[in-house]
Amino acid sequence: MSEEKQQVSRRQFLNYTLTGVGGFMAAGLLAPMLRMAIDPVLQPPSDGDYVNVGLAVEDITTTPQRVDWQIEQVDGWYESQPTRTAWVYKDDSGNIVALSPICTHLGCVVSWEGNESFPDQFFCPCHDGRYTKDGVNVPGTPPTAPLPLYEQKVENGMLYLGKAISRKEA
Ligand code: FES
Repeated sequence: MSEEKQQVSRRQFLNYTLTGVGGFMAAGLLAPMLRMAIDPVLQPPSDGDYVNVGLAVEDITTTPQRVDWQIEQVDGWYESQPTRTAWVYKDDSGNIVALSPICTHLGCVVSWEGNESFPDQFFCPCHDGRYTKDGVNVPGTPPTAPLPLYEQKVENGMLYLGKAISRKEA
């Protein structure tokens, strides 16, 4: 075996070793990132998006009432329990309506009859935005879309709410 062949062989060995170690380190760095990026896709679908908000259906009237509840939220390794809010009432047909209180203008919180000049309406104090009882924005006020509606279901006489779904611009 010549001297030149031995040098090439050593060089190749070093190249293979460094490539292997480098690849191993790169995989060690990229795998957690990839896992974090696609983790939601790997989660099995669940019915856990609905939360019992602690309101019995028989206690829901035709007057909107504010309901607050907490959800479990996990962002990576950070777990929290943010509060959600809805305005809940029964319409004239007895159907339950659960409206998001988040103003569709710039995200302030609306209140039922929040301004005595506008009874029977939701009022946003930030820029005098208004919505009728069904959550539709009043023309001529800043909001350009109705309040989102919560997905809902009833189980054992209790109201469960899911995601707030945006509605088309009025
Ligand atoms: S944020 Fe509600 S009117 Fe502007």
